[in-house]
Amino acid sequence: MISAHGLAALLSIPLKTLVLIVLYPFVGGIGRKFSKDFINSVKLVIFIGGISMPIPDGKYLNVFSNKFLIRVLINYLHKKTVKTLPGYGERYDEQSFWLVKQPDRKPSDPILVYLHGGGYFLETMPSQVQSVLAIQKLVDPKKREKLSILLLDYKLCSSGYQFPYQRHQLHSTYQKLTKSEHNTNINFIGDSAGGNLAVIYLQLLKGLKDPETIFPKNIILISPWVKIVPDSSQYQPGQSYYDNDGRDMINYYIFSREYPENPILGKTDPNALEVSPGNCIASKPSDWDGISTLRNSSSNVFVIVGEDEVFRDDVLNWTTEALDVPLGKQKYGDSNNVFDAKKHSYIRKGNDKSAGVQVFVEPWGVHDSVFFFENDLLGKLEKNPSWTLKDINRDRYFGITRIVEFLNDAL
Ligand SMILES: *[C@@H]1O[C@H](CO)[C@@H](O)[C@H](O)[C@H]1NC(C)=O
Ligand SMILES: *[C@@H]1O[C@H](CO)[C@@H](O)[C@H](O)[C@H]1NC(C)=O
Repeated sequence: MISAHGLAALLSIPLKTLVLIVLYPFVGGIGRKFSKDFINSVKLVIFIGGISMPIPDGKYLNVFSNKFLIRVLINYLHKKTVKTLPGYGERYDEQSFWLVKQPDRKPSDPILVYLHGGGYFLETMPSQVQSVLAIQKLVDPKKREKLSILLLDYKLCSSGYQFPYQRHQLHSTYQKLTKSEHNTNINFIGDSAGGNLAVIYLQLLKGLKDPETIFPKNIILISPWVKIVPDSSQYQPGQSYYDNDGRDMINYYIFSREYPENPILGKTDPNALEVSPGNCIASKPSDWDGISTLRNSSSNVFVIVGEDEVFRDDVLNWTTEALDVPLGKQKYGDSNNVFDAKKHSYIRKGNDKSAGVQVFVEPWGVHDSVFFFENDLLGKLEKNPSWTLKDINRDRYFGITRIVEFLNDAL
């Protein structure tokens, strides 16, 4: 049975939507990015409600499985796109499906593994698959014809599979890809909890101390959840958890609740690099040495976080520690929705100490914009089949355009 708190969170969605409808003409939408965008303000209200559900009640929101989402829903909504994708919806192993499986692929051809977000308790949303497919469509045709994409269908803690079950499942698929089938060009794209999974998995691989380990070649992290449990000191003026309260999908209350024995981690201590690097008290830059994804000059790392996200400080702190990125020293919050390359991006080519690094702070961006607010691009691409990357608005599709550019270089 759904809990009283869960029912309240669920019922608050239509209620808050109603309030939004009534007040929108007078006070505008939610936060800053969508203050003049009614549809995206409604979406934000819905996501806030969903993410505020007590974790065990998440199962009442997970109305369809990944199998149904991929094979039925997306297939129905995006027939035009799906029919161009070889191997779409085929199963790879017990916990993954191909979105694209190139025929006659060679082990050195790139596989992009999509690790979806949702706090480890919410299932993949249609918008997340839509954005992955929009990215695929825009990648340079020469790169695209070799690119396969796999979606990890990990089990959720709302169905009783507490962390680190998901990490074990990724490990199983990754071992099959690399150890059994000798694929050498694995790339991760992960949003939110999926970004956490991508990062902590690098630590798991490092910990194996196996000289034969093949690390992911490139990783793309979208609003990665690098610190699972925020400290109370972060809910203070000047900190992103505090300053962005009410602007973002997530708030301090959501992830600080129900600890220390929270339903995502169970008895797992967050103070560990292979769980939650931001909660790792004694972590240091050298903890990331030996991970070729971050240190080999032919690898590349892409990170994006929103200026108006509560996770902003955590993400930038992680990029400072693991990748020596100086953006965390800047003060944010005053962009006025204008991109300033110096302040909102950091780009470094690969060198003998480091992988290539690209970090972006999206002006007024909220949590996981790429997968929740840029997904309508897929429909536009279907209506305008001649569009290429240069036809896409770089402010409206801030994340997707930059990810496509990254992939065109990195793959
Ligand atoms: C870096 O990666 C390239 C290509 O994957 C590989 O050939 C090379 O051995 C790696 N270098 C080091 C120092 O591991
Ligand atoms: C980020 O790093 C700075 C400097 O090391 C530290 O003062 C700050 O508390 C950190 N913020 C968070 C949110 O961990």
